[in-house]
Amino acid sequence: MTQHVKKAELHCHIEGAASPALVRQQAQKYGADVSGFIKGDSYVWSDFTEFLVAYDGAATLFRSEEDYALLARTYLEGIAAQNAIYAEIFVSPDHAVAAGLSPGAYFDGLADGIAQAKLSSGIECRMIIVGVRHLGAEKVEAAARLASMRPHPLITGFGMAGEERFGKVADFARAFDIARDAGLGITIHAGELAGAESVRDALNHVRPSRLGHGVRAAEDEALVRRIAEQGVVLEACPGSNLALKVYPDISSHPFDHLRRAGVKLTLNSDDPPHFGSSIGHEYQLVADAWGYDAADLTGFTRTAIQAAFIDEPTRAILLGQLD
Ligand code: ADE
Ligand code: ZN
Repeated sequence: MTQHVKKAELHCHIEGAASPALVRQQAQKYGADVSGFIKGDSYVWSDFTEFLVAYDGAATLFRSEEDYALLARTYLEGIAAQNAIYAEIFVSPDHAVAAGLSPGAYFDGLADGIAQAKLSSGIECRMIIVGVRHLGAEKVEAAARLASMRPHPLITGFGMAGEERFGKVADFARAFDIARDAGLGITIHAGELAGAESVRDALNHVRPSRLGHGVRAAEDEALVRRIAEQGVVLEACPGSNLALKVYPDISSHPFDHLRRAGVKLTLNSDDPPHFGSSIGHEYQLVADAWGYDAADLTGFTRTAIQAAFIDEPTRAILLGQLD
């Protein structure tokens, strides 16, 4: 039922979208050993800290513009085959620099892959620069300054990923001020590994239009009402939450509760091969859990496009594809 539903996702980390097969191919190219974090055709990790090790290990094997073009094209063509019409990818210049690539070459390579996928499938894509929280406020501010220079026309937003339990949101407020002043769309990971307090801090200090995850706001009903009233959009990633054991099973996940409370929700794959997920899988997961029909599911896509960090003419074209 869900295959023909038009889809969009706003929350996918491009380095986290590399399949183990693609990473093995890259490892062969560079003569590297991936046995520490890939076994057979799966990533191996058992908690968030180990997940980050696998994520960072895979990222070090993308070292050139061509590597990143291949990664972006492969990811986008894969989701276009699942009927996705739009995606925003989180891009992390810190990961590129750690792999020996300049931010400019990183963005150009990704943009090449985006252009190739648009040509072959019609899918639209934009990039959101993220700072990595556990690298500290200075690094996140540097990422924000880079984003504020608008280094590529496809870069339309700024966000923060990484270990949510590191530091306080207020420490990163300046980075978000820099990005907001530059006119970038703002999103921040909160309410994934930490609870409602983390979401409240994010709203107070960062004033994002979207929250990465945000679902643990459900632990505080007053906060849920605030999110619904302010129209803050949640980039929900239920499959990721199950894989990282934020919730034991889908029936314990607050997605449907938040929806009934009037919170605007989108569906996202986060780091798909790490979590045994894909955007198609996310739509199927919630449809099976709560009996959503095609109109309900298209509603999540519409919310995503309404909340997208994109120019108005393109938004109108994308919305027109949902009618
Ligand atoms: N970076 C990549 N995936 C992430 C996640 N699920 N949470 C926080 N930071 C991340
Ligand atoms: Zn994420």
